Amino acid sequence: MNFSFLTATKSSKKPHYHVVAAYQDTSKKKAVVKHKWNKEIAQAFKEMPNNSIFTGASESIFKFCSKDKKTIIIALGLGEENKSNNEIIRKTTAKAYKALKNDGLSEAVFDLDTFTSIKDTATKAKIITETIVMSGYVFDKYKSKKDEPTLKKILFQTTDKIANKQNLLKNAQALGESVNLARELTNEVPNILNSETYAKLLQKDAAQLPGVQVKTLNKAQIKKEKMNLLLAVNAGSAYEPRLVHLTYTPKKKSKNKKHIALVGKGITFDTGGYNLKPSASIVTMKTDMGGSATLYAAFKAAVLSGCPHKLTCVLALTDNAVNENATMPDSIIKARNGKTVEILNTDAEGRLILADALDYTCELKPNVIIDAATLTGACLVALGTEVCAVMGNEDKSIGEILKAAKRQDEYLWQLPIIEEWRKDMKSKNADLKNTGGSRFAGTVKAAAFLQEFIKNDIPWLHLDIAGVCDNQSHLPYCPSHGASGIMVRSVCDYILNYE
Ligand code: BES
Ligand code: ZN
Ligand code: ZN
Repeated sequence: MNFSFLTATKSSKKPHYHVVAAYQDTSKKKAVVKHKWNKEIAQAFKEMPNNSIFTGASESIFKFCSKDKKTIIIALGLGEENKSNNEIIRKTTAKAYKALKNDGLSEAVFDLDTFTSIKDTATKAKIITETIVMSGYVFDKYKSKKDEPTLKKILFQTTDKIANKQNLLKNAQALGESVNLARELTNEVPNILNSETYAKLLQKDAAQLPGVQVKTLNKAQIKKEKMNLLLAVNAGSAYEPRLVHLTYTPKKKSKNKKHIALVGKGITFDTGGYNLKPSASIVTMKTDMGGSATLYAAFKAAVLSGCPHKLTCVLALTDNAVNENATMPDSIIKARNGKTVEILNTDAEGRLILADALDYTCELKPNVIIDAATLTGACLVALGTEVCAVMGNEDKSIGEILKAAKRQDEYLWQLPIIEEWRKDMKSKNADLKNTGGSRFAGTVKAAAFLQEFIKNDIPWLHLDIAGVCDNQSHLPYCPSHGASGIMVRSVCDYILNYE
């Protein structure tokens, strides 16, 4: 897909879709359309016999023809102007894009000046670009017949002067494409994506990023690092574990340069181990590396946007499989930080690999650590499949990530780590155990376990993406099935706005 700006006076010569915003005026008895269209478009709409069915209601779309029959006008219903918001624009644009992408014409012109609910023209172009890139994603690499959209070019029309036009579109496109990369990695099948192939793929992708250094630890190096919890999860695997360690150093020196570290759960398949998952919950466990994919994607988008901060991205990769060497429940393992952990349930493996990865990352002394993981089924019980959970050890950082998620219209909600649940993770036979005493508050107990591996009170944020990682088909800019890429935008926003 190609995105660019048109000069205000020049329109596209090709037959095209002309996309305009429409709002709803509910002040009268009957709702009617309110708009800032030019005379010709307004007249063409007036002459449409069935125009009364379109009132500009939120997420509705109306298609009509220009008087010269050369242009198809697409009106996006964005609801009442003072109640409209970015998410309504995303959802309506996504629906329109999906309806038009195979409808024949190759170009669409967005008349940004008609989108009057947003003041800043650059923001309008940014949101529409991100949305169209995200809406275009399909997981079709294993389909013999692929869908090739006819719509290939998006043009933005405005009378406003915008600084740095091409960069703006480039960054927006990069963010959308990073969301799609997270989806593509997460959707990849476990007979192709294992810890070894995944590490190679990440290494290759990251090597192309400006200012990024790649280091990958193999099994021998992981042993040397005493990451015994990662090794314990990997014990039943046919593949070696990997710890991918990426470092981004910004080119420009800035006064308030900070260091942000990202730590991702990369379980390429979660069978549950000896505590084998039942058939109903084992399918979709290829997505158990979603945390690592989300954070790598956010890292990449931030780097490509010229992030002013130093970034570290640590991804712990292995599957959780069963063979004759697999770790047995009741085993006690010494973690990298020296604490002993009684493994009561081999299906609570994510917290084990993250524990060692978090301890490793703390030694790099970042200003803040964010981990992301498809960590607990309990998260779906607590918050449903639509809301991501955040927990942490410091209120300011939690407040900032909540704000970033709000800015991006992604659902994020804080859960409390209370002392009682931290106590529940202590073991009678070892320092810690990897499951709580009951099923209750499972999401927070997992977080309480992770907190035991944060050194020197480094501000730490834990995102449990178990609910939001997969299928978010209620969002029109997400695919109808499979990985969603949700939280990539929020994490990237948090990084780029960190102070
Ligand atoms: N990967 C799962 C969590 C999960 C469940 C992610 C559903 C996405 C959808 C995790 O490793 C796991 O199995 N957790 C256990 C923990 C329990 C044994 C304490 C769970 O949630 O049942
Ligand atoms: Zn598990
Ligand atoms: Zn898991």
